[in-house]
Amino acid sequence: MRFTNKVAVITGAANGLGLDAAQGFAREGAKVLLVDRDPSGEAQAAALRAEGHDARFRQADVTRDAEVRGYVTEAVDAWGGIHCFFNNAGIEGYVRPIVDQDEEMFDAVMAVNVKGVFLGLKHVLPVMLRQGSGAVVNTASTAALVGSAGIAPYTASKHAVLGLTRSVSGEVARQGVRVNALCPGPTDTRMIHSLEDQAGALGGSNDVAERYKAAIPLGRYATPGEVTAMVLFLCSDVASAITGGQFQVDGGRTACPGGSALR
Ligand SMILES: NC(=O)c1ccc[n+]([C@@H]2O[C@H](COP(=O)([O-])OP(=O)(O)OC[C@H]3O[C@@H](n4cnc5c(N)ncnc54)[C@H](O)[C@@H]3O)[C@@H](O)[C@H]2O)c1
Repeated sequence: MRFTNKVAVITGAANGLGLDAAQGFAREGAKVLLVDRDPSGEAQAAALRAEGHDARFRQADVTRDAEVRGYVTEAVDAWGGIHCFFNNAGIEGYVRPIVDQDEEMFDAVMAVNVKGVFLGLKHVLPVMLRQGSGAVVNTASTAALVGSAGIAPYTASKHAVLGLTRSVSGEVARQGVRVNALCPGPTDTRMIHSLEDQAGALGGSNDVAERYKAAIPLGRYATPGEVTAMVLFLCSDVASAITGGQFQVDGGRTACPGGSALR
């Protein structure tokens, strides 16, 4: 899965899954553009350059059309194309029953998780279609596959990512471009710890992480590196017949919800 002479654009790349994937693409030989609204992505890109990789950072809010066009133009101007696109930036919103969810946060979750993915597809795909090749991975979630009580807006947004992925994959497949959805289960980044903290505060409990882990057959969260392995696979030529799919990295959580009757 070497990416020599390939260009990878990664959104949400200053932290968590996006950062790990950016490092993974770079270490496999790709030129990488880290995109994030968090300016700390500049230091992450600099660290990759210090390792000898070709890495840039572009500060952008994925919900703003002009800023999305800006990161696409930066990659194309710097390196002539985009071969791999990890359309990944996302936010979790609030952990609350639906009656206590607020409209402003609902709009924010939809803006980042759905409109951000939509705008990324809208502006990156023309580059790939001109090339006649490319691979996109949109970050959904296991919350795209089943309901998640307490995070209904997030769950709805991730179901929407699957709708975008499936529809768009059928539009571009004959032109050499593949589009897949990644469905991580709980993974050890800031986001899962935010969900734990919010759920703990709501229920007055401090054992949320243990309960979340107990519901996973593997008994633990995935690591960012385990998710990156799937992203790199889906973006590689090894996955040449794979498009329009959704790929779980969830320790068996959606296969056996609730863990095991044996424990
Ligand atoms: N960690 C998990 O357990 C888990 C599980 C399933 C899916 N996911 C999904 O994985 C993706 C990455 O999440 P993570 O776990 O790495 O969380 P994270 O919070 O560590 O990283 C998310 C990144 O997205 C960036 N971002 C947020 N809004 C943005 C915007 N409008 N424009 C540009 N950048 C923006 C943040 O600054 C941050 O760097 C998200 O789409 C998330 O929903 C995470």
